[in-house]
Amino acid sequence: MSDFQAAPDLAELVQPDRVHTALYKDPAIFEAEMDRIFAATWVWVAHESEVREPGSFKTSYVGRQPVIVTRDREGALHVLLNRCRHRAATVCEGSGGKATSFACPYHGWTYGLDGALRGAPYPEGYAASFDKADYGLASLRVESYGGLIFASCKPDIEPLVDFLGPARKWIDLFMKQGGGFPVKVAGAHRFRFPGNWKIQLENTTDAYHFPLVHRSFLSSLDEETEELLDVLNQGGFVEDLGNGHSVMVMVPDLVDLEENLEAPIPERFEALAEELRRSHPEEVVRRVVRAVGGTGFNLNLFPNLACSMAFFRVLRPISVDETEIAHVAIGMDGGPEAGNRARLRLHEHFQGPMGFGSPDDAEAWARVQRGAEAGSDLWVMLNRGLGDDGCDNQGPGLGDVSAETGMRAAYQMWKRMMCA
Ligand code: FES
Ligand code: FE
Repeated sequence: MSDFQAAPDLAELVQPDRVHTALYKDPAIFEAEMDRIFAATWVWVAHESEVREPGSFKTSYVGRQPVIVTRDREGALHVLLNRCRHRAATVCEGSGGKATSFACPYHGWTYGLDGALRGAPYPEGYAASFDKADYGLASLRVESYGGLIFASCKPDIEPLVDFLGPARKWIDLFMKQGGGFPVKVAGAHRFRFPGNWKIQLENTTDAYHFPLVHRSFLSSLDEETEELLDVLNQGGFVEDLGNGHSVMVMVPDLVDLEENLEAPIPERFEALAEELRRSHPEEVVRRVVRAVGGTGFNLNLFPNLACSMAFFRVLRPISVDETEIAHVAIGMDGGPEAGNRARLRLHEHFQGPMGFGSPDDAEAWARVQRGAEAGSDLWVMLNRGLGDDGCDNQGPGLGDVSAETGMRAAYQMWKRMMCA
């Protein structure tokens, strides 16, 4: 447990309209977050397509703790701490694949996919009272919704469906970008930025930065798409969904991808539609083309997963001023190859390492961390769209698309958990 003892001061650091930069900089606060947030709630660890078959596994993290997500031979999901019960070595270093067991490389203790200790070499060296049943890999709570697999270190945590609450509706809508096929993970790339994890958390429902930071991305688009992504002028909104979750609707027309299938095919997808027509009926062509560019919204699931238009953005806190980001591309499982290819090209265009979007975001996040070193009496303002300041608030927790409602929602959850 962290020894951070300043709970009353901690509550002061989050105000309704601002947060203190200590939240980005104080190592003791970071340590407390690992215990009171990442070890105390549901944390996203995998998509079910990554562990679809019995015997499949994926390595992941819950906060800083390495875990292995497995599907055992009976098809049951497990999330196991990736830590040998002998002397703590990780038992799996692969990113994912198929396995029948996990053998620790140090002294050879071997575990099943359910975490049970199957054997230890030279067992005669242990006392007769040594019981393998006492030394299985530690296992976390695991539940999934809509293909998203979450784990929790807290044995008595509320059911995942209650934690997600109204966010479930948006997960359902997000998964419609399979275009009638199940959504699958199509690959991921990772990078780190020199900044606190909450700087990225804030960004997912920040429409305000979009036309400014992403000017070069917007200028790389055809005219019709550039107009579509004029996100501050589409009648969108941002909504507090409870428990720190929020949704930012940027393009209302693209909220439900099973609607408006008759609409004219956008210019940027005409070539794809032509290609698909060679092997698919018009109804499939329309569904795939409508879904291929992703949804019109970003869903922020506190604390570590963004379902962001057409991809997953997963954050992993490394230290108080370093965060790893995974940009996870999405495909259609069993869908037309041309559609999946188009999805990957769009993903690379914005999110890729050489993309027009992510490098600009990462630069802005790093600058926040650098700038936060100045002026210890200055605060980070989250007051856009709050109260009667001229923004079109439509009710409690629902603001204009560029309101900082999502950030306020996340920080109120942060405060509840950190001060509980
Ligand atoms: Fe794993 Fe010794 S640390 S067997
Ligand atoms: Fe951005």
